[in-house]
Amino acid sequence: MSDHKIEPTKKDNPADRYGVVVTEKGPYLVYGRPPLNLQSIRLGPRPGGPGFEEGTRFEMRTDPTALCRCGASRRKPYCDGTHATTAWDPTLTAPMQETTAGRTVIEGATLTLEDNPRRCTLARFCQAEGDVRSLVGRSDEPESRRRAVHEAELCPGGRLTARDRQSGEPFEILYEPSLGLIEAPSIGASGGLWLRGGITLRREDGRTYAARNRVVLCRCGRSADKPFCDGTHASVKWRDGLEERVPEPATEG
Ligand code: FES
Repeated sequence: MSDHKIEPTKKDNPADRYGVVVTEKGPYLVYGRPPLNLQSIRLGPRPGGPGFEEGTRFEMRTDPTALCRCGASRRKPYCDGTHATTAWDPTLTAPMQETTAGRTVIEGATLTLEDNPRRCTLARFCQAEGDVRSLVGRSDEPESRRRAVHEAELCPGGRLTARDRQSGEPFEILYEPSLGLIEAPSIGASGGLWLRGGITLRREDGRTYAARNRVVLCRCGRSADKPFCDGTHASVKWRDGLEERVPEPATEG
């Protein structure tokens, strides 16, 4: 069983310190200077099993700091204004409220697995140590149960949530409020902007999306479910070039 069973954001409401505003036709405006690091997906054999490897820290010298969401800035992860001249569709198409449409629940021996395909970001942790659905089915075996919980709680976009079948309690990693720039070296692509720890996400008009412990926003500019990542970055092999670059300081603009 995971030792990360928690009630996300119960003790410490990160909305008091940090926030992200998705502008209608431009960047993400990040308030409060939360930590921002590269987060590389590691699926292969490694100590501790599959997970994220934290990389370079990017500074937020201004408050707010504008981060690119069109995918074309030459100063990634920061916005350089290119969204005004590049060809992309900034339309925010995702509903403000979470819906249950398309969701399924798999009942296993000791676990249940909620599956919301709309939140898939193609991180592929669900296959890292065996197919998560098969593992849930065999969750009366301690090792299968451990792997199923670990794979589900690693899912960065929150497509998968494992719950103890008896208590109904979800398994969630307790993330500090922070942002991540997802990299997926195994498929040669970069992913979205990872909001962790319940950071508030809202639109310019003040409407707020449901706060979640883990959610991924599109930063390649190609998602059909903006502001959320829908995995399109993987099929177009979008690269941000950040793993090869020394970060530059953020400046106004
Ligand atoms: S970053 Fe995933 S679809 Fe754009």
